[in-house]
Amino acid sequence: MEHKLWGGRFAAPTSETMRLYNDSFRFDGRLFDADISGSIAWAGALEEAGLISAEECETLIQGLELVRREFADGNFVALEGDEDIHTAVERRLRELVGDAALKLHTGRSRNDQVATDMRLFCIAAARQISEHLLALQLALLDQAEAHAATLMPGYTHLQRAQPITFGHWCLAYVEMYERDRQRLGDAVRRARILPLGAGALAGNSLGIERERLTEALDEFDAVSGNSLDAVSDRDFVAELLFVFALCGVHLSRLAEDLVLYSSSEFGFVELDDAYSTGSSLMPQKKNPDSMELLRGKSGRLIGNLVTLLTVLKGLPMTYNKDMQEDKEPLFDSLDTLNLGLQVAAAAVATMMPQPARMAAALDDAMLATDLADALVRRGVPFREAHGKVGRLVRRTLELRVGLRHLPLEEYQAVQPDLDENIYGIYDFAQSVARKDSSGGTAPERVREQCARWRELLDEEG
Ligand code: ARG
Repeated sequence: MEHKLWGGRFAAPTSETMRLYNDSFRFDGRLFDADISGSIAWAGALEEAGLISAEECETLIQGLELVRREFADGNFVALEGDEDIHTAVERRLRELVGDAALKLHTGRSRNDQVATDMRLFCIAAARQISEHLLALQLALLDQAEAHAATLMPGYTHLQRAQPITFGHWCLAYVEMYERDRQRLGDAVRRARILPLGAGALAGNSLGIERERLTEALDEFDAVSGNSLDAVSDRDFVAELLFVFALCGVHLSRLAEDLVLYSSSEFGFVELDDAYSTGSSLMPQKKNPDSMELLRGKSGRLIGNLVTLLTVLKGLPMTYNKDMQEDKEPLFDSLDTLNLGLQVAAAAVATMMPQPARMAAALDDAMLATDLADALVRRGVPFREAHGKVGRLVRRTLELRVGLRHLPLEEYQAVQPDLDENIYGIYDFAQSVARKDSSGGTAPERVREQCARWRELLDEEG
């Protein structure tokens, strides 16, 4: 049975290559749940407008639920002419309920239908990613609590800079992923505007009350105010792809840190075997592939965003078939991030921090700022203190000793009133404890932040 939705005015059939090129069902079948929810709401609106009887409405709804079940159970059988998800659902509905199905598309276009489906899909996708982000935050938080006072070098320019705690490093990522979750929330807020009822582009003339549709489709807060915009807008997909891309960038940065930290040269953490792989040639190798893939796959998340922006940028009002190209980038980014976040959370939860290796990587030069601060406390202007300590550091390089082994005369050469007490600053734990401004790395502050996050994240979990 020919079940094209638009065959009437055509004398000749679609070419086979064109059909292959045009059909989207092989990927947009994923929209089945959203598509069927939208159709069920639409059937209700048709009944309210007196366009179908209560009985017909009931038949349609029951039939649509059967189709939904077939998809959900993997029993849906696709046929040759199933151009896209909308065609496939309507075709199957007609097979199941007969001619009542012919009325479902009254006053509706695939243009407002697909825009509605995509919004529903995006809202659900954002929710899923947000949950995985939360799990990653909780894994980082567990590590932060266990290592609030574990000393490690902090870096700028990937050069040892000042001592910090491993817990503080963990919480930096918790902050980042929190902003990603907030951005998901923002994007979802704008996705909750219902395009259904906008028709092909101009609105519908059959007396359908669009406001009532938001009651049936409770993911939506309001209806779109302009039918042209309603069917041509894909901002909400672009926004979500941006958030996914940024989230990928944040995962990539975490991954890069852990690639470095798990190397023999650093040795700050050991990744669990379950999230590492070996070499086919070198028997000794244990490679951080989970982290490398997180870093590498961020590329496609960025690429998918750029793909969609490029598709949209030259489109005239309103719907154009180009817009069918919004789906594969979205699905790919969603799948990539979904799995990536789960791998990241599990790898973080199972990684084994190595406090002894972190401590061994601390060197006296990382306390040069503490030394300058000590001079400042004696009334030396900071700029001068910086110069004096710089000269002492130069002496350590010349004499090949650490700052704490530089003889007192050297200190007195730059600041005559110094005595043996100055060596008291060479204590990494105390240096860290002094960084007790809010948001600082002092263990006391890190524990406060852990408590704050624990409360905040547990509330949402
Ligand atoms: N498969 C189409 C898409 O994803 C559905 C909308 C088709 N609309 C149309 N006027 N041909 O964009």
